[in-house]
Amino acid sequence: MSNQSQNLFERAQKVMPGGVNSPVRAFKSVGLTPRFIDRACGNKIYDAEGREYLDYVGSWGPMILGHADPKVIEAVQKRVEKGLSFGACTEAEVELAELITSNIDHIEMIRMVNSGTEAVMSALRLARGYSKKNKIIKFEGCYHGHSDAMLVKAGSGAMTFGDPDSAGVTKGAAEDTLLARYNDLTSVEALMRENKDDVACVIVEATAANMGVVPAAAGFLAGLRKLCDQYGALLIFDEVITGFRLAFGGAAEYFGVKPDLVTYGKIIGGGMPVGAYGGSREIMEHVSPVGSVYQAGTLSGNPIAMTAGIEALKQLLEKPEIYTQLNEMGAYLADGLREACGFTVNNIGSLTCMFYTKEPVSDYDSACKSDTAGFSHVFRELLAAGIYVAPSQYEAMFLNTAFSKEDLDFTIETYRKILTQ
Ligand SMILES: Cc1ncc(COP(=O)(O)O)c(C=O)c1O
Repeated sequence: MSNQSQNLFERAQKVMPGGVNSPVRAFKSVGLTPRFIDRACGNKIYDAEGREYLDYVGSWGPMILGHADPKVIEAVQKRVEKGLSFGACTEAEVELAELITSNIDHIEMIRMVNSGTEAVMSALRLARGYSKKNKIIKFEGCYHGHSDAMLVKAGSGAMTFGDPDSAGVTKGAAEDTLLARYNDLTSVEALMRENKDDVACVIVEATAANMGVVPAAAGFLAGLRKLCDQYGALLIFDEVITGFRLAFGGAAEYFGVKPDLVTYGKIIGGGMPVGAYGGSREIMEHVSPVGSVYQAGTLSGNPIAMTAGIEALKQLLEKPEIYTQLNEMGAYLADGLREACGFTVNNIGSLTCMFYTKEPVSDYDSACKSDTAGFSHVFRELLAAGIYVAPSQYEAMFLNTAFSKEDLDFTIETYRKILTQ
């Protein structure tokens, strides 16, 4: 173990809850001291003692071009010299918004915020304000950030209908959140029928990536579209992970299903804190100051963050072959892991996840059958071998353009050794 990481973690625990600013970073579920990261480049990260790891976390999704992409870094450095934040309009926000609206058909207007959580929270308020209805349907095992109404069966937690997963979330805050089963249209239809005239929206990870990776089954998203139209509810795709990753137009483009609203985070900021929500002009014009749905932010549309996002998205647009390359690598990794380990491996595009079960995983209940103790053992051995995956079973392995076939082969062989020794 890195002594430097140990020393830093001891200092951190004295001044920050659990020593971290986001819980999963604490390595608690795998019983280790977290590695403190000093720097990163391409698909490698380096800890405080200078040890190198092959990084499958990629900052939890944003680094689709690899860490410290030269164009993104250069653009940010240039921009920084002009000042960090003005709390006023800048050209960069217009440019990022134009880049998105001119390349994604279902987004005519967009509002920038600072995180995926904020994007979802705001999109839900907009859906309620627009529809004048109260209830929200979400899916068991889908995570949509940590706003109160979304902390219900958010990837794990209490199993009871409508009960919050977190202390401090009132029953009232969660009682308008209805839970359906992922990949199960019957469960959605039943809720729509029971709550007729009061469902403002259905929010879904159009490929779930917070209960492990669970792709939408054939017809599931199209079925949701149909049900939403039938019952007058808005369909929200939470594309915080899938946006600009499965395709430039995210899961909506990948699956060919058009949502009413989309939420973004991660890749949109090129590694800086950005979230966004967008949709048709007709719906988005309900947002303040044109409309009556209030939402604001001191640092929203921050010029440095916008610059990083613009440079990242421009590269994805200029080189669409990136997606073919990433998707091929994803399939190669998944096939290799499946063959080497004999466990269920779910994959879509550049998102892959091994479940420590041999049963198919298509929803929250089947994801929960994975042997998490088995995962902890593998995690420790991977880290010792220089492979950094998320310290939780229920996360994706994120690929980026810096990965090579050799990296994937090394990873597959390391898994094989760990699981067969
Ligand atoms: C699908 C999804 N939605 C929302 C969020 C929340 O985003 P953030 O952590 O930027 O608040 C996440 C975070 O991982 C996510 O995966």
